Amino acid sequence: MTESQLHERIEVLRQELRKHNYQYHVLDEPLISDFEYDQLLLELRSIEEQHPEWITPDSPSQRAGAPPAEKFDKVRHPASILSLGNAFDAEGVYAWLERIAKLDERALDADFVVEPKLDGLSVVLHYRDGVFVQGATRGDGEVGEDITDNLRTIKALPLRIPVTEARRPTTDSVPSSVLRPPSYLAVRGEAFIRLPDFEELNRKQEAAGEKTYVNPRNTAAGALRQLDSSLTAKRPLTLLVYQIVAFEASDAGMSQPSTQSESIEFLSAMGFPVPESTLCTHLDEVIDAHQKWEERRDGLDYEIDGMVIKINDHQLFDDLGVVGKDPRGAVAFKFPAQEVTTQLMDIGVNVGRTGVLTPYAMLEPVEVGGVVVRQATLHNFDFIFEKDIRVGDRVRVKRAGDVIPYVIGPVEAARTGEEWPYTPPETCPDCDQPVERIEGEVAWYCVNAACPAQIVRNIEHFVSRGAMDIVGLGVRIVKQLVEQGLANDVADLYTLERSSLLGLEGFAEKKADNLLGAIAASKDQPLSRLLTALGVRGVGEVVASDLASHYGSLDALAAASVEDLESLEGIGPNIAQAIVDWFQRPANQGVLAKLRAAAVWPRMQVSVGGPESAQPLASLTFVVTGTLPGFTRPETKEFIQTHGGKVTGSVSKNTDYLVAGEKAGSKLSKAQELGVKVIGEAELREMVDTLN
Ligand code: IVH
Repeated sequence: MTESQLHERIEVLRQELRKHNYQYHVLDEPLISDFEYDQLLLELRSIEEQHPEWITPDSPSQRAGAPPAEKFDKVRHPASILSLGNAFDAEGVYAWLERIAKLDERALDADFVVEPKLDGLSVVLHYRDGVFVQGATRGDGEVGEDITDNLRTIKALPLRIPVTEARRPTTDSVPSSVLRPPSYLAVRGEAFIRLPDFEELNRKQEAAGEKTYVNPRNTAAGALRQLDSSLTAKRPLTLLVYQIVAFEASDAGMSQPSTQSESIEFLSAMGFPVPESTLCTHLDEVIDAHQKWEERRDGLDYEIDGMVIKINDHQLFDDLGVVGKDPRGAVAFKFPAQEVTTQLMDIGVNVGRTGVLTPYAMLEPVEVGGVVVRQATLHNFDFIFEKDIRVGDRVRVKRAGDVIPYVIGPVEAARTGEEWPYTPPETCPDCDQPVERIEGEVAWYCVNAACPAQIVRNIEHFVSRGAMDIVGLGVRIVKQLVEQGLANDVADLYTLERSSLLGLEGFAEKKADNLLGAIAASKDQPLSRLLTALGVRGVGEVVASDLASHYGSLDALAAASVEDLESLEGIGPNIAQAIVDWFQRPANQGVLAKLRAAAVWPRMQVSVGGPESAQPLASLTFVVTGTLPGFTRPETKEFIQTHGGKVTGSVSKNTDYLVAGEKAGSKLSKAQELGVKVIGEAELREMVDTLN
């Protein structure tokens, strides 16, 4: 990305994050999953790391939560209430340790505490001489809202720290002679609702004819924000406390615990409900503990979305410091999203860009990992029959890390006899032409090339981020263009006129000009992107960039034979045939002619026969791993290939360079083992600059 594109992207990301933060933290109506939110935040952080001068105090990376609402008094926390960085797999956890060990090698011998990451709301509780005097929400991490009265209604919260013999702490830091609680103590915990209590609450709501609550987390958030605490009291909130935020000893013999495991023991001794915690002496044990919790997760009576790994020693934890709002000494090791069951109300059919018909499940709306799922893919018609999925069935639905939820299969035991088998449509749901099944393929096709649904999908693919990346051309606009007959194929985008755009719904002059500008700018996209955009079967981003660097132009590629194509690494007979067929089809030739006429005809320098000086990376083989600050993965490949280099997927003795970014994992160790040179983004750019 260029500097100005990066700058634009940072603004888009901030706007998105602000919107979702507001939806989640203020309205309690999340529109995207935590995972998706985390991805946006990761991207924002990586740009800000590269350009610290762009960081503004109001960037979503610079705060831990939503700003405090005006209606409650504000409370300044005695210390920052920090957030947590995330890891999504063991590799990420090892990378975290590697990062902090570079800053302080004591981390290599550190002990860790593993705790469940409770899916609730962070609260800070203040005790003076053992009495609960004030409680606050996290707010922005520095200042929260005073919700003392609401917190008081939580039965799990001690209003007075009990001082009894039996509860006396056993740790060295708290000698047993101590009977009095600290003169001042501020603790942090998580307020939430247990699942059985949540279900009971919803049963009551239903019986009273009231709207049921969507999920425990948002219900807890809403309850804590009630101005009338008698309403809070009606919600079954509970609490677990896991951190000492501030501590003032009440007598000389008492000192603040110096490790997390002692803190938990101390808090428990003081009468606080604490989470189950595991002390580990090695990161492998941490990974084990995480896995054991993941297995237990479905059986727990409260929701957790991962495990928190904390450096046990407070001194080391503090010395490691903070990045933004995240302490370096802790990390959230997230769990993958969950599986749920719900009712399959009906089966719908989508028409893809190649005419493939894909069935999808229309579901009784169900919550999975913070998002309401209404539709899920059923893969293909055979899947429905193989799994014997019937309309009306209770089905298992999974929403994994990325986007599209899918049906796993029916819950046969839940059948009532009211379910009925599904019959696929005989005509295209969009253009009503008869559908066909191609021999040897699972898919059913609409073979009508003029089917509007296919044209819409084609254009959608053409303009998408990994292809021509035309910003501002969403599916609603594409549908309008097709319906109005303004675009019958992708090439028609380049002859769109301002006046016809202005005739579309929702278009004012500025919007029309922006769109025309974005379309015009896409003419400069490299050949590899245009090839991806054309949507030839089997030609995704990887094959497209191989083809682009080998052939260098659409003319050369169009003239290639099946044998020619097959001789390229990574291209088998099926893809080779599909490419030749694509160029032979008259409709596609028409599209190409129109693209050429519109000057959408990129060329690139090819290594074959090209002057060596123009190809600084010629004859070098690269592998890319981890996240680079200034490139996405496809962009890195594009960059290397444009300069004549070759990119392969795995490190071997034939690899010349491993380009490694943050969170580089096993490829990095393999490269080190084989003595392959490891470089970063800056060095890669330098190679091109100096050799050019
Ligand atoms: S520790 C320095 N421990 O997760 C301490 N947080 O994504 C940082 N959370 O805002 C937090 N369970 O609300 C910690 N056992 C636990 C937790 C926990 C849940 C929440 C907390 C935090 C969020 C970060």
